[in-house]
Amino acid sequence: MTASTLDVPAPTGTVGEPVLEIENLSVDYGYTDDATHVLRDVSLTLHRGEVLGLAGESGCGKSTLAYAATRLLPPPGLITSGSVHFTGRDGQRTDVLRQSDAELRASRWQDTAIVFQGAMNSLNPVYRIGRQIADGILAHRPGMRRKEAWDQAASLLEMVGINADRLRDFPHQLSGGMRQRVMIAMALALDPQVLIMDEPTTALDVVMQRQIVEEIADLRERLGFSVVFITHDVSLLIEIADRIAIMYAGDIVEDAGAQDVYRRPRHPYSAALLHSFPPLRGERRELTGIPGSPPDMQKMPPGCPFAPRCAHVTDVCRQVRPVLGPTALADRGGREAERSVACHLHDADLEGIDGTLPADLAR
Ligand SMILES: Nc1ncnc2c1ncn2[C@@H]1O[C@H](COP(=O)(O)OP(=O)(O)O)[C@@H](O)[C@H]1O
Ligand SMILES: [Mg+2]
Repeated sequence: MTASTLDVPAPTGTVGEPVLEIENLSVDYGYTDDATHVLRDVSLTLHRGEVLGLAGESGCGKSTLAYAATRLLPPPGLITSGSVHFTGRDGQRTDVLRQSDAELRASRWQDTAIVFQGAMNSLNPVYRIGRQIADGILAHRPGMRRKEAWDQAASLLEMVGINADRLRDFPHQLSGGMRQRVMIAMALALDPQVLIMDEPTTALDVVMQRQIVEEIADLRERLGFSVVFITHDVSLLIEIADRIAIMYAGDIVEDAGAQDVYRRPRHPYSAALLHSFPPLRGERRELTGIPGSPPDMQKMPPGCPFAPRCAHVTDVCRQVRPVLGPTALADRGGREAERSVACHLHDADLEGIDGTLPADLAR
């Protein structure tokens, strides 16, 4: 098992080739004039073989994004604009939001599978684990014999590091970490190309968190799927993600290589979020937390949503909403050219508004 996967090359396909492209996606909850605009023009690309981390405080829209991108958004959630495209290993590009119900049924779980937030607590307490995994397989393979589905359940369980003997266990006989592994096994049943995991480690203790993260990294390497790993705990992503997108109040505010976000966060919110969680390994740092709370999405401030909490706020920030894009530092080339930030301090035109970036954001 790999301890750190930051430098692990993707096992199949070419890295750089997009597999899931979310463009300008907007989502409302509610259908009337007082609907809450939860996602606002969110764009995010997952590349083949990549682990993309999506982090942000609770309520910023991470789950909404995962549901919308997989057409699983429950009412009163409504996609109001944008597009989602999936490109298969065969190179065929599918417009996910325009798929018919039949096409969706055929492709769901084999193109993109999702491990829902809190799913490990939704296993049926009165059925054995094996039956629940086998039922999941049979739902997609109606012609399959029960024995064959059970055998497949056994290999899936072994694949996620649980002895096949445990197929006869009931959920309460498994630890939280094992139940989460069962959920991962079920999501991998149809050999998906993309695995979206929504807070897969949130309810687990730190030791278990580490084990699950290593398990996912290991499986990704062996099976070659791409991952969107959603968490409110950005420090966890440093362990597993190739790239990290930071979300705040329904916007992606920074999108860059994992090491770049970790070593040199450019958005003041990214920097604040990094200082809110203890790193799982590496140097200890002082935890500061973020003063204030996220804005009420029904009454968003006119400018930058983070302005009321930002230590570097200027007049422009209070008036004009910044757009995600390359920063003035992109001119340096190299890794900075691969970073996008939604912050006026980094605007190329304004050169950090007055030409001088705050020291902590300019290193
Ligand atoms: N069914 C719903 N009706 C109205 N608002 C909702 C609903 N579900 C989520 N929201 C709102 O959408 C925002 C984003 O929620 P969510 O996507 O669950 O965030 P996260 O996963 O980042 O914690 C929150 O402010 C939440 O209150
Ligand atoms: Mg969530």
